[in-house]
Amino acid sequence: MPHELRAQLERLEELFTVPTDLLKRITAHFQSELTKGLSVEGGSIPMVPSWCMSFPTGHETGVFLAIDMGGTNLRVCEITLPEAKGEFEIVQSKYRMPEELKTGTGEELWAYIGDCLKSFIEEQHPGEMLEKLPLGFTFSYPATQEYINHGVLQRWTKGFDIKGVEGTDVIPPFEAALEERGLPIKPTALINDTVGTLIASAYTNDQVRIGCIFGTGCNAAYMERCGSIPKLAHLNLDPDLPMAINCEWGAFDNERVILPRTPYDVIIDKDSPRPGQQTFEKMVAGLYLGELFRLVLLDLHENPDAELFKGQDVGRLRKAYSLDSSVISAIEEDTTDDLAEVAAFFTTTLNLTASPAELELARRLAELISTRSARLSACGVAAICNKMEWKTCAVGADGSLFGMHPYFRTRLAQALREIFGWGVGDVPDPVMVRAAEDGSGVGAALIAALTLKRVEEGIT
Ligand code: GLC
Repeated sequence: MPHELRAQLERLEELFTVPTDLLKRITAHFQSELTKGLSVEGGSIPMVPSWCMSFPTGHETGVFLAIDMGGTNLRVCEITLPEAKGEFEIVQSKYRMPEELKTGTGEELWAYIGDCLKSFIEEQHPGEMLEKLPLGFTFSYPATQEYINHGVLQRWTKGFDIKGVEGTDVIPPFEAALEERGLPIKPTALINDTVGTLIASAYTNDQVRIGCIFGTGCNAAYMERCGSIPKLAHLNLDPDLPMAINCEWGAFDNERVILPRTPYDVIIDKDSPRPGQQTFEKMVAGLYLGELFRLVLLDLHENPDAELFKGQDVGRLRKAYSLDSSVISAIEEDTTDDLAEVAAFFTTTLNLTASPAELELARRLAELISTRSARLSACGVAAICNKMEWKTCAVGADGSLFGMHPYFRTRLAQALREIFGWGVGDVPDPVMVRAAEDGSGVGAALIAALTLKRVEEGIT
């Protein structure tokens, strides 16, 4: 590799590497911010009580609908929980969410969701007279909940910017859309994807204490004791009752005191629809990894000391958010000596011819970006375990990075070992992050079932 590029690579290594001692310091600060978030004054992490107040017993039964408003698709499911413990049946359809919806209006959003539910019911139950079906709505954005079947959107995250929804309760317009279409559906619970993941995973593994999403966004939920939530003290809840907390940890370090942000992170934030928000998420989540990669390559092209892709037309590389995290996964999956797959990516996607040294740099850059993501993510998991004094537990995890990236899981596990200082005697790892059960399908159904049970028992 020419020495100019080598020097640039060393600079990038320096910028993106998070050494063990920093991981530990970030974890300690993360832990104190989790606690602050539960206080009356609050901190950077919202720590939203979700009103999901028990783990499933495995004996929940019934038929439930669930919808999941992800970034790309709207998934509609019908879930049957039979008598048999820990089992479920699921029928589902996916509807592609038009890109314009993300920046459109609330009315358009609710009409779209209503129409999808209508087609689903017509497909699954043609001509049937249905009793009202309970529905669990997985709404994976920070929503303040005073009870389980409502939620006031605090602010959009993950690049969404739908007008007129922030600061309002999302359930009434959703219910109105259902009514307008004469749909026999009762929204029973509004659920964050992390809470759904936690409950679905606990349904099949009783060691699960934390649910995480490492995908387009990044966040976690865990079971807290009501007695440890000072901001709910005025409600005089039984201190020993459990309460699932949707951390919304993407907002960690919004006050900018500890995360090692690079100039590229600064650009991502500045050019996002909500600058100053989701500082942690913008460094670790899938939505931003491809964009970081793009920004660095472009910078190296424009930097006279590097001259990456010298003399070539980088027009395609100038398009913001044109590369998603699957590009990072694909690049790291290339194990050929000559990085043939990476080379093909540059020619076909970006219309660029990369020299062997440029390929090597791109490959290493992808590694640096995704390794930083996995290592910083580990700080959040470790902070929850430390806060709760859990020496051992299982974590259910979902999301595209966790599921699709070839090394995300192993790097996350490695970072946990460094943070906790586990040695050779700690086998298997005391805190184990495993692929979760389907949170927005079975998780949402279970939470709807648990909610109905609480209502029947007169606990609201
Ligand atoms: C964003 C959302 C959060 C969600 C996460 C993962 O951080 O604000 O609610 O859980 O993405 O989808």
